[in-house]
Amino acid sequence: MCGIIGCVGRGEETVETLLSGLSTLEYRGYDSAGIALANGSLDVVKKQGELDALEQVVATTTLSGSVGIGHTRWSTHGPPSDRNAHPHTDTEGNVAVVHNGIIENYQELRDELEREGVVFTSDTDSEVVPHLMARSLHEGASPREAFRDAISQLEGSYAIAAVVAGADTIFAVRQDSPLVLGIDDDAYYLASDVPAFLEYTRDVVYLEDGQFAELRADGWTVFDHEGDETTPTVDTVEWSAEQTGKSGYDHFMLKEINEQPTALRQCLSGRVDEVSGGVTVDELDDLDTPSAVQFVACGTSYHAALYATTLLHEVGIPANAYLASEYATTHPPLPNDTLVVGITQSGETADTLSALRNAESRGAETLALTNVVGSSAARECDHALYLRAGPEIGVAATKTFSSQLVGVNLLVERLRPSGSPTGELRSLIAGLRDLPGHVQQVLDDSTALEIVDELFGAEAFFFIGRGLHYPVALEGALKFKEITYEHAEGFAAGELKHGPLALVTENTPVFAIVTGDDEEARKTLGNIKEVEARGAPVVAVTDGKAEVERYADYVLEIPETHERTSPVLANVQLQLVAYHMAARLGRSIDKPRNLAKSVTVE
Ligand code: F6R
Repeated sequence: MCGIIGCVGRGEETVETLLSGLSTLEYRGYDSAGIALANGSLDVVKKQGELDALEQVVATTTLSGSVGIGHTRWSTHGPPSDRNAHPHTDTEGNVAVVHNGIIENYQELRDELEREGVVFTSDTDSEVVPHLMARSLHEGASPREAFRDAISQLEGSYAIAAVVAGADTIFAVRQDSPLVLGIDDDAYYLASDVPAFLEYTRDVVYLEDGQFAELRADGWTVFDHEGDETTPTVDTVEWSAEQTGKSGYDHFMLKEINEQPTALRQCLSGRVDEVSGGVTVDELDDLDTPSAVQFVACGTSYHAALYATTLLHEVGIPANAYLASEYATTHPPLPNDTLVVGITQSGETADTLSALRNAESRGAETLALTNVVGSSAARECDHALYLRAGPEIGVAATKTFSSQLVGVNLLVERLRPSGSPTGELRSLIAGLRDLPGHVQQVLDDSTALEIVDELFGAEAFFFIGRGLHYPVALEGALKFKEITYEHAEGFAAGELKHGPLALVTENTPVFAIVTGDDEEARKTLGNIKEVEARGAPVVAVTDGKAEVERYADYVLEIPETHERTSPVLANVQLQLVAYHMAARLGRSIDKPRNLAKSVTVE
């Protein structure tokens, strides 16, 4: 949700550093982009469209300065356009500002500035900041004072970086929007997310809410909200720059789909012990079994939460999954000893953070199931369980969803009230152990590509599943609609006859997930027959046990495995279907229209 970058100390490589950082951050927004370099004056270039539009303009412009900031935008206030692109400047062009977040009182501030004669040149909330700074500078404030004074007038969520002509410093602040510093020997960086500067350094400082930072050629300083200098911890991140490239794949999404065997191995490593038949999660050593669990999550992560509730019910712990954006408004009671778990790959989703804060303010213990060490969710929650999936750049979540399903299994076994029955746990551990290899088997299967050819041009696509496969049906449809822009819906298989069946025709393929041969599978088979009778092409995602082949037009096979791991495999088949259909339609797979990864506004 907007990406910001800044660097000092890169000399003649400043522009290149900013552009390469922005290209890594493009997943956060791609409506427009811009950069500003401070020297005696300011050079600012910005352009509507994806980053290559900016790069073309930069190629024809002479820019100088070794203190620079940049921005890639996901529109909130004002449509995508050159004028709404960041950096925003004051009237005289002495201050340039990039912002991620929402300034809630911007209208009030804008009215005040306009009454004083300031002419605004954009529709954004962000533009008030350079004008506020310019006003202070005119009144004799130093650049630092002007920045602090401007920030003190803002309400809302923001990560902001500013440069001032003639000052060799980047001024930055964080409030409810991510901002991290990168510390190298002779160069310093700031960004919305670590991968933006991972090429240069792995040493990072995660700013806390309310903290200010200054980056200068001769060093960096972090101040608390009262202006006192602090001594922040410098952490070293484990991710490497190579992990943030496409490694020869056409799209990050395809790369990340193919990384799933590795991601799952990393998630399980050292946490399941086949010999003793146990699950150990070091991070959760001090977590007691709660009386109930509430999950809060959005989008794909919400589907992982739905899966998680079923597992917790199996071990006898009451559990509910809430869409994070609905959590506070539906006022769910919080019985004593309830654990509230935020499932969020980025750890920065505003709706999820807000739901976690709501639960925390009502006394609940909180846990973040996240992929990003140092993320807001990880730092604010009482506990954090890391997915270890490696960086995910494609907007559509793939490897992090598979890792969430595995992470949830670890959490549930950790919480199981009376210790896990040995035989049951051993068979789960075997399923988890085999999972990376089984995922690889699915990845090696080219049937999804062939099926896409057959179904191309259909009117709508439906996905059905039951039990643990219901969240996969929802996820299959979400992924499909998100990157193909085709109409897709997921349903609980049993719900079809209560309404959605009216939509089913010979031009609406139905993907049905059915594994095993128990009562549940037999019921789903019944639902498959219902859609088949209406002429819909049926694609079965199956381990073959339910003899679904007789009723299905096409079959996407998955290896036979534990009932808790088969949803992961079924989902990989559906990821491939979505990917190949989107590729065939020529869609912008890594950057679907109107979307952004890490949604940091509510
Ligand atoms: C869909 C997708 C989104 C995210 C959602 C929550 O492919 O990626 O639906 O799952 O925005 O994001 P996190 O997990 O970062 O909180």
